[in-house]
Amino acid sequence: MADLDSSKREFLKAASLAALVGGWEAANPAPAIARGLEKASARFRSRPADPIRDQFPLTHDRVYFNNGTLGPSPAPVLAAVAAAMAEVERTGESRDADDVVFRAKLAAFVGATSDEIALTHNTTEGTNVVAGGLKLAVGDEVILTTHEHVGGALPWLNRARLDGIVLVPFAPPPTAEAVLREIAARTTSRTRVIAVPHLSCTTGQLFPLEEIVAFAASRGIYVFVDGAHGTGMLPLALDALGVHFYASSAHKWLCGPKGVGYLYVRKDVLDAVEPRFVGAHSDTGWSVETRPPRIDGFAPTAHRFDYGTQNTALYAGASAALDFFSGIGMAKISAHGRGLAERLQAALLAHPAEIEMLTPTEGRSRGMIVSFRFRDPARTYTRFGAFAGAHGFRVRQVAEAGLNAIRISTHLYNSTDEVDRFVGVVDEFLR
Ligand SMILES: Cc1ncc(COP(=O)(O)O)c(C=O)c1O
Repeated sequence: MADLDSSKREFLKAASLAALVGGWEAANPAPAIARGLEKASARFRSRPADPIRDQFPLTHDRVYFNNGTLGPSPAPVLAAVAAAMAEVERTGESRDADDVVFRAKLAAFVGATSDEIALTHNTTEGTNVVAGGLKLAVGDEVILTTHEHVGGALPWLNRARLDGIVLVPFAPPPTAEAVLREIAARTTSRTRVIAVPHLSCTTGQLFPLEEIVAFAASRGIYVFVDGAHGTGMLPLALDALGVHFYASSAHKWLCGPKGVGYLYVRKDVLDAVEPRFVGAHSDTGWSVETRPPRIDGFAPTAHRFDYGTQNTALYAGASAALDFFSGIGMAKISAHGRGLAERLQAALLAHPAEIEMLTPTEGRSRGMIVSFRFRDPARTYTRFGAFAGAHGFRVRQVAEAGLNAIRISTHLYNSTDEVDRFVGVVDEFLR
């Protein structure tokens, strides 16, 4: 009975999405999104109802444990993008309000003001704005980890190449206290920036930002955070946290449209970053007719870092993602995802002879990611990746930092049943 209800509800959801995309559907009798949803709804017939999972058109052909790479969007996000895009294409007018609304909603969601939010396309772009523009001199030092994502490392490496700053990496040990010790040990009179991920892409280690901020503040050091894995995983209060810069996106843990990101720039350090890429909306006035040609100045907000024509429909979708997450509540989402990760970690820790746990076990140093590898060199991460895939699980293989590990991301649409079935697959692989 519950199964029938569930399938009916899914079908209705597909139909209502089709209705939402209204005018566009009239011109395209079989919209791909609605078609995909109807197909997905057929696959629901043997599943019990789940009010959150049921809103994700994400295929049921496999269990998706790779939100750390890309967060699949729920139906309201797809509907918002489709409706906004349809309107832009129908009217030929861009919908400027979408970015204004998104910026304001996002600021409230992450505990900042609109003026501190620059809109970017992804985390890497925000990192480039800071790493490329922060006023630094030859020999100034930047402390970062050996576990950076390529998007977190390259912008700083490039700045070192171009301007002679010095990068001082440390391998993150698995406790907050030890991380702080490593940072302190590398701090010198030339240290200008501590650049750490909020959570590492490799092991999902959660960094002790409060203590890093306190340490840096007493020495006049900037704190830059690669927040690719923060927004949508953890409740954020950036102004209260006190970091100077936080780069993130809507397309991982917030399950928003792909290609929407943001950079938080604390208002008192706005002028510490030279705008390297500028255009419409960055300036307060300019002329190429005066002698000499001039820029009068830059917008007195972080908006100076965004410029040019944007895909505003994506902001409509990102706003819908914020509404979706706010409607459920970040505390609840975070508790669910972290609970699943903890359950998985505990099950894997039961095999200490066979499995090496890479994600910290300290509660405050982990989030919704679990990374591990097999001790037997014959049980390679690629072999397990293929094995898990054949058993219907999408996992992430981690080659970064030479870890050769498996990373599991657990989010709001995942269930204890999925985690337990995955543990069964690991058990089978060990047999
Ligand atoms: C820690 C970390 N930083 C940066 C990035 C790059 O993010 P984006 O593709 O949004 O630029 C990723 C992507 O996986 C990441 O895991």
